[in-house]
Amino acid sequence: MPVPFPSLHPTPAHTDADAAASADSVIQGDRLTLENRMDSANHAAAAAGQDVITGLTQPHKALPPKYFYDAHGSELFEQITELPEYYLTRTERQILATDAGAIADIVGPCDLIELGSGSASKTRLLFNAYQQRGLPLRYVPVDVSGTMLETSAQALLTEYDQLTVHGLVSTYDQALQNLPPTDYPRRLIAFIGSTLGNLAPAPEQRFFQQVSQALASGDYFLLGVDLHKDTATLEAAYNDQQGISAAFNLNMLKHLNWRFDGNFDLTQFRHVAFYNEGDRQVEMYIESLTAQTITLQALNLTVEFAQGERLFSEISRKFDTEVLTQELLAFDLAVRHIFTDDQRQFALLLCQKQSSDAP
Ligand code: AVI
Repeated sequence: MPVPFPSLHPTPAHTDADAAASADSVIQGDRLTLENRMDSANHAAAAAGQDVITGLTQPHKALPPKYFYDAHGSELFEQITELPEYYLTRTERQILATDAGAIADIVGPCDLIELGSGSASKTRLLFNAYQQRGLPLRYVPVDVSGTMLETSAQALLTEYDQLTVHGLVSTYDQALQNLPPTDYPRRLIAFIGSTLGNLAPAPEQRFFQQVSQALASGDYFLLGVDLHKDTATLEAAYNDQQGISAAFNLNMLKHLNWRFDGNFDLTQFRHVAFYNEGDRQVEMYIESLTAQTITLQALNLTVEFAQGERLFSEISRKFDTEVLTQELLAFDLAVRHIFTDDQRQFALLLCQKQSSDAP
């Protein structure tokens, strides 16, 4: 299955082909608009594999996390979200179950733009809150998978008879540069699921800049982040007993085999994940168990691995709400409310864009 990857950062659970419609094509119905912003440059970049060549030929080998998310990787990620050790998804859901009403009361009628919407399973808690209050809402899901967008939009329109949907088949950065015009008084950009944690500090800052530029003064940004905590809890979440996290990590190699005609033997590598407390990030690697030579024929690439050599596959940063509040403020995103769970494992920050001359 070809994968139109997002250019800014990964989004779990959805990376299938959407090449049927050309860029800017629009499917319009009564309550549903689907706009395709993926252009041939996105598809060509994904096919070329230049990032794989760069990543595997540098002194410290690394691969972009987007290579996790082929169809099987997306399924494995869904399984991770259900694991007893992986508290992130269920904790964020609990917070939304408790606080979606408060968010709806603060934000009011709006365009809800969700970056990396997937199946919108947690977002439904916000829709319920809007529906219970009789508040109107237009949902603007942004996802690189048109198939995923259309399927989830159709389901939502059946479930919520007051909802309208304007889906963008797009990378986050393309979407943020040009959000669809709105008739509502406010926009709310939602970036939940702690996907922010998969961005290194520099791309994180660029992302905040883009969010801030996309919003008008008074608009909102809802950010879901995993919080710093004890090492044992964090390491268990990324090294589960059933081995699903390991399978998810190693599946990256299978994906490269399929996509670029490679010969990675998954039994000759192992999953490594640990919490780097100094940098407050879980680091994931794929470690070579032997000295071996790998070929990716479609890329005309041969790579040597030493025994014990590690390929860096992902960071998952863990946040401190006070530090994050200061960082967001530098982009005129003022944190108005922090919603968290009893154990302060996870947080949803509701920020409001303020004009740059605000005190
Ligand atoms: C998608 N992202 C928020 C997950 C995380 O926890 O950083 C990806 C993941 N990697 C391993 N397990 C889950």
